[in-house]
This record gives sequence, C-alpha cells and structure tokens, in this order.
Amino acid sequence: MSAHAPMTRLTLRDLSAKKDAGEPIVMVTAYDYPSAQIVEEAGVDIVLVGDSAAMTVLGYDSTVPVTTDEMLMLTKAVRRGLTRPLLVGDLPFGSYEASDERALATAQRFIKEAGVDLVKIERGGTTVDRARALVNAGIPVVGHVGLTPQTATSLGGYRAQGRTAEAALTVIDDALALQDAGVSLLVIEAVPSEVTAALAPLLRIPLIGIGAGADADGQVLVFHDLLGIYAGGVAKFVKRYADVRGVSIAGVAAYAGEVRGGEYPAPEHGYGMADGEAARLQELLAAR
Ligand code: KIV
Repeated sequence: MSAHAPMTRLTLRDLSAKKDAGEPIVMVTAYDYPSAQIVEEAGVDIVLVGDSAAMTVLGYDSTVPVTTDEMLMLTKAVRRGLTRPLLVGDLPFGSYEASDERALATAQRFIKEAGVDLVKIERGGTTVDRARALVNAGIPVVGHVGLTPQTATSLGGYRAQGRTAEAALTVIDDALALQDAGVSLLVIEAVPSEVTAALAPLLRIPLIGIGAGADADGQVLVFHDLLGIYAGGVAKFVKRYADVRGVSIAGVAAYAGEVRGGEYPAPEHGYGMADGEAARLQELLAAR
C-alpha cells in the first residue's frame, strides 16, 4: 500500500470536498486486475473502466462494438483489484439509449455484477432523460460532454468540440442539462480551455477534463495512453509518462534471444529430483 492510499473507500462527498478545497481530482482508466492494483497503489481518486477498452485492450477500431458482457468482464476484474478509489463503469453504445428501462437494467448489472459506484453515459439524443431515470432509481451517474466517442460520427469525427461560440454554448448546455438531471460528476472531453473555464463556475458538481485545459476540477487520461502501451495514434492532449510498450518489447525480445541462444532456462530456473531418484529412473527405464 502506498503512502497515498488509506484503505477506506472514497465517497462522492470526498470528491465534492476536494472540489470545494480546490484540490485537483485524479481519474484514470483501468481495464483489468493488475492495472487496477497499479492505479490504486499510485493513489488515484477515481477509476473508470472506460469503453476505450474496446480499442486499448480488445482491438476494435472504435468504442462502438464493445458489448455489455465484455465491459462487465473487464469491470469485474478491476473491482477485484481496487479498494480506495471510486469505480465508474462505462455503459457501452446501444446499452442504454433506447429506453429508461433498458438504461436501468444495464446500469443495475454494472452495480450488482461488477460492484461499480457510478455509471457513465455520453451526451446526445436521449441521454438527459436516461440520466434522470437512473438518478431517480438511486444510481449515481457520470455524464460525458464535448467529444463523445460513441457518437463521434454525428459530431463530425474525432475532433475537438465547442470551437465556435455557438458550439461552445451547446457543450455548456449539454453539461447544465446533465447537472439538472442529477448527475454526480461530469467528464468534458476535447474542448478549448476557454469552454471549460466558462463552464466550471456554472457547475455545483465536479468537472473532470480530458483535453479540456486546466480549469476543470480534475483530469482523466487513458491508462494505455499515459503509460505508452497502446500502439495506435494518441490525441494531442495525451502526455506520455512512460514507455511501457518499449520496455515490454525489449523484455520479451531479451527472453526470445536467451531461449534461442540457449541461455534460458539456466539451472537455477529448474527443479531437481530427490537424491538417488534420477539414477533409479534410469534403472526403471533400462528395465522396460
Ligand atoms: O472510455 C473512456 O476511456 C473515456 C475517457 C476518455 C473519459 O470515456
């Protein structure tokens, strides 16, 4: 356990206290048991099992194809690795939009089967109604505004949102409508910092930015992006804090080289038979 991680679960009230105190909130994605343990040990506040898993760990070319069952399997593994941070489950595309009943059924699966604290839904279409229905059913919700990858096609592709005053107002109105619907937290993705600066003072709830400047109450990045694991392209706002992919390739290449060169395994990597048993084995084989 790190010095940052007393083993009591954070609460939404703790997040509000951080917002009120101006203490930045740290959020990151994780998709499996070891990455959950790593982010816990590093002392983050919120862990999101994002549908970015579709691309980072499942190899799809967008977030759209990932299913509820796939997300649940990953989310359950993360739950097993976490104690202190709040855990957010991301409802995948097609699992909540059609009706309040559908949204509720999916969200309840994330809570009952994967033990999440909150569920996240992306803006657009029916989202505000779905958010209200979930909140009314007692489910804490995270809203996601700005660039929302599930509906990137209707936003004109993976591009920054809110770059004109009118477009910025749309982002701000999306955020305010979700706040009015009762969401506990908002993620704002890929908007100019001026939009975040204009929105932040209008919100009672914590605002977490990704590619949205420094005026949010906290920041979120994708685990594979910040550690340099993912081979695909990364957005302009990503800062790489490590080259885990490079280190991993070098490690596996060193192993392959030693196997091919006969250096691995060395005697210390193996087991021995008890005294006299090797000789007895030879006798048994010779007697056959
Ligand atoms: O799916 C995800 O990882 C996300 C973050 C980028 C906020 O939605």
